[in-house]
Amino acid sequence: MRIEILETTQEIATRVSEVLLQQVRQKPDSVLGFATGSSPIETYQKLIEAKKKGTVDFSRVTTFNLDEYCGLEPTDPHSYYAFMREQLFAPAGFCYENVHFLSGLAEDHEAICRAYREEIARCGGIDIQLLGIGRNGHIGFNEPSDSFSDGPFMVQLAQSTLDANARFFENGTPPRYALTMGVGDILAAKKILLIATGESKARAIRAMVRGDVTPQCPASALQNHPDTTVYLDRAAAQLL
Ligand code: F6R
Repeated sequence: MRIEILETTQEIATRVSEVLLQQVRQKPDSVLGFATGSSPIETYQKLIEAKKKGTVDFSRVTTFNLDEYCGLEPTDPHSYYAFMREQLFAPAGFCYENVHFLSGLAEDHEAICRAYREEIARCGGIDIQLLGIGRNGHIGFNEPSDSFSDGPFMVQLAQSTLDANARFFENGTPPRYALTMGVGDILAAKKILLIATGESKARAIRAMVRGDVTPQCPASALQNHPDTTVYLDRAAAQLL
């Protein structure tokens, strides 16, 4: 695991977007794994800037998002699909037929999860997976538990995750359940970029980097990945 500590969130966004842009310029039909949340937003803005300048073309890129809340229509403004459409896919010119999401509306969620994994494999695997990290060490929505998950599955969100994400919901209550890629799916990505900023992530970052590899800190599994780079500001890196 490589660690890069940078001074500002803008510097982090510039570094991470450069890696993604280089990947897409070299391989226009790359497969990228995306995350939602606050951490990647500035990186997405840099990707949009590059598209507007005409220095990159995302129309042939295939995407897989990490997770989605159960019970929300894609048109619901709180859905992660809506987040990605607004924050990246529409302004950066991604082609919707190449965009993949776990459907949080599916009745047979096990079939949806199996199909998602098969589709990732059919597309040749994920070239670069972008990640944030929860305050409790979650990646995707893999919450601390007794074992590492392998493939996609339905998860009951931890109270700390519901509290952290309440800010995105006017009524203060996110759905309790979500579908998420498993830790095994994340580790299968050829390259992983993780962004964490702010003091609230410092303990999770310490556990991920310095702690034991344990499902109590799902992000610690990244210690076993051959090509992971973690981009931190000083506040998130303060306990390393
Ligand atoms: C989002 C996701 C989550 C977030 C994490 C950090 O798709 O999978 O693991 O990356 O909760 O969220 P932020 O960036 O809002 O602090």
